[in-house]
Amino acid sequence: MTESLTVRDNRTGVEYDIPITDGTIRAADLGKIKASEDNPGLAVYDPGFVNTASCRSSVTYIDGDKGVLEYRGYPIEQLAEKSSFLEVSYLLVHGALPTKEEYDAWVHEITFHTFVHENIKEFMQGFRYDAHPMGMLMASVGAMSTFYPDAANISDPDNRRLQIIRLIAKMPTLGAWAFRHAQGKPYVYPDNDLSYTGNFLSMLFKMSESKYASDDRIEKALDTLFILHADHEQNASANAVRSVGSTQVDPYSSVAAGVGALFGPLHGGANEAVLRMLRRIGKVENIPAFIEGVKAGNERLMGFGHRVYKNYDPRATIIKQQALNVFEVTGTNPLLNIAMELEKIALEDEYFVKRKLYPNVDFYSGLIYEALEFPPEMFTVLFAIGRTPGWLSQWLELVQDKEQKIARPKQIYTGERGLTFVPRDVRWA
Ligand code: ACO
Repeated sequence: MTESLTVRDNRTGVEYDIPITDGTIRAADLGKIKASEDNPGLAVYDPGFVNTASCRSSVTYIDGDKGVLEYRGYPIEQLAEKSSFLEVSYLLVHGALPTKEEYDAWVHEITFHTFVHENIKEFMQGFRYDAHPMGMLMASVGAMSTFYPDAANISDPDNRRLQIIRLIAKMPTLGAWAFRHAQGKPYVYPDNDLSYTGNFLSMLFKMSESKYASDDRIEKALDTLFILHADHEQNASANAVRSVGSTQVDPYSSVAAGVGALFGPLHGGANEAVLRMLRRIGKVENIPAFIEGVKAGNERLMGFGHRVYKNYDPRATIIKQQALNVFEVTGTNPLLNIAMELEKIALEDEYFVKRKLYPNVDFYSGLIYEALEFPPEMFTVLFAIGRTPGWLSQWLELVQDKEQKIARPKQIYTGERGLTFVPRDVRWA
């Protein structure tokens, strides 16, 4: 039996049967409900798309109540422990895990597309000395469309694949150069003998040594963080990528829009706020007073709570373990003890339990980034590198989805109508 919704329009007394599919009704079916023939159909008002499905997607599954996150059906915990960022990227983009040949070819292609055109380097050097690395990243990703005009041919699958490889390969190069720029250090060219994260670390931190060797545990931690950030279904930046991509523009322009969305403090910036909070608390003894302040509504416990997860954010558990691994190499951060004690107290406290507030992905990630000597402005750049395969998988799904149209929402118009224009010389006389 098909499920349906019966709606009675009290303006006209007419009843409508609206089919329910996958827990949703079609907005177009509501559009058939009209008070009179010349009346526009009923629409839904949903600022921020809080309760509107914009697409069908088979990339990422989230069950926020149970704390479940899966990429293409594989639980995030298994991928973080046993896979690699490039394998996860393959999985997200292709929808299935690679064979050995497919994996080797994928890694080889990404490794050999890490270099960028010299002119990109030159215009990056033209940014102000204190340019925010996210602004530099957004501009240079967008500018890549001018270096690869063939990317406009989005209906050709081989062409799409080439641009996807280029983007995943070149994001670390652009991100690392934005970092070096702020430090006034020479940009380091990619080293194709190294792994994806090993090469990224080399481009970030190499000085006069002929070859940069990073610690395996640091490489693994960064690789894991990239995996954890690789996709999160229809979040603000994925929605930006899809919205811009729906105009059939090239993927560089779409991904630049994603970087712009991620730059916003409501999306990519909470881990920095966690660090500021931990520093302000200063020592473990100050935690009870701080918690009382949070419960009194003076401020929020940063890194806790999530719009979707009403349980432990599965990424937080994995990041916590990675933080411990990183501190083995870098030496411990005194803020870690405060963070762990804060978490323990909050998880037992009635206020947090009742509101289902658990640590989110940002609670420990800032501590890791700080231990790796990244300034806070770089935190979002790391997020963007990790999120690139997710953005591209969402874009790929969009351009192949026959149901998709150019993203063009309706509005409820609240302004004036039919005014008569009075020219300046009359108005100001
Ligand atoms: N500390 C204290 N109280 C909190 C917190 C918190 N971190 N988060 C939510 N609450 C309380 C609210 O005060 C509210 O209490 P009330 O019912 O007594 O009024 C209740 O919990 C529900 O809060 P909402 O704001 O309605 O929850 P929402 O889903 O809109 O917010 C959000 C989610 C924005 C993430 C929120 O939990 C928050 O501000 N957390 C801190 C910032 C943070 O860590 N952001 C990163 C999120 S992860 C990411 O973006 C990658």
